[in-house]
Amino acid sequence: MEDLGLVAWPPEPIKTERLVLREAGARDRAAFVELLASPEVNTYLGGPRPRDELEREIPEVPGRRPGAFVVDLDGAMIGQVLLGRATGHSRPAAAGKAELGYLFLPRAWGFGYAAEACTAALDWFDNVLPGEPVVLTTQSANTNSMRLAAKLGFTELERFEAWNAEQWLGLRSPLTPPS
Ligand SMILES: CC(C)(COP(=O)(O)OP(=O)(O)OC[C@H]1O[C@@H](n2cnc3c(N)ncnc32)[C@H](O)[C@@H]1OP(=O)(O)O)[C@@H](O)C(=O)NCCC(=O)NCCS
Repeated sequence: MEDLGLVAWPPEPIKTERLVLREAGARDRAAFVELLASPEVNTYLGGPRPRDELEREIPEVPGRRPGAFVVDLDGAMIGQVLLGRATGHSRPAAAGKAELGYLFLPRAWGFGYAAEACTAALDWFDNVLPGEPVVLTTQSANTNSMRLAAKLGFTELERFEAWNAEQWLGLRSPLTPPS
């Protein structure tokens, strides 16, 4: 996933009922390591990475780029919501479109935090790039992710095989302005 392109970044932190969406900072580094080293988080994302490798390679201030939000609960990072550009996507229906991704620490699953954070990030997106559709790719076996995608209004465009698994490509159509 590449940068979204020309958007003002970072925005003021976005506050939801329970969460804050903000740019990453040095204090989030340990949570980034945890996210990428977690077997549960990475079950459908190509598997976890060795913790010692992550400790060596993750920069002091990780994960900073336009469209990459850290999700903060009570002052600590619980996950990430990513909006980027699917420039190199293998499916023509998705290539070049804006794309949503999300990953949360397992202890933050099951509380509706991911849905709350993604809704806020998509609201931000609708304001900065009005009228643009958003795509999302997830393994169809990833039932938590499939449920979240449906809740966020993504509908199936197609299924395809990649990385030895069935992938689901969803589309969230742009909101139509009121007439
Ligand atoms: C995908 C992922 C973000 C989903 O997280 P999640 O916590 O299951 O998602 P949600 O925020 O939608 O919360 C879901 C549950 O919280 C429950 N919940 C509890 N309290 C709630 C509240 N106050 N408000 C809303 N929902 C609440 C809901 O009932 C819902 O359960 P259901 O889906 O069984 O109905 C998470 O599983 C994850 O990080 N996975 C690893 C990374 C990954 O695979 N990403 C996909 C690649 S794009």
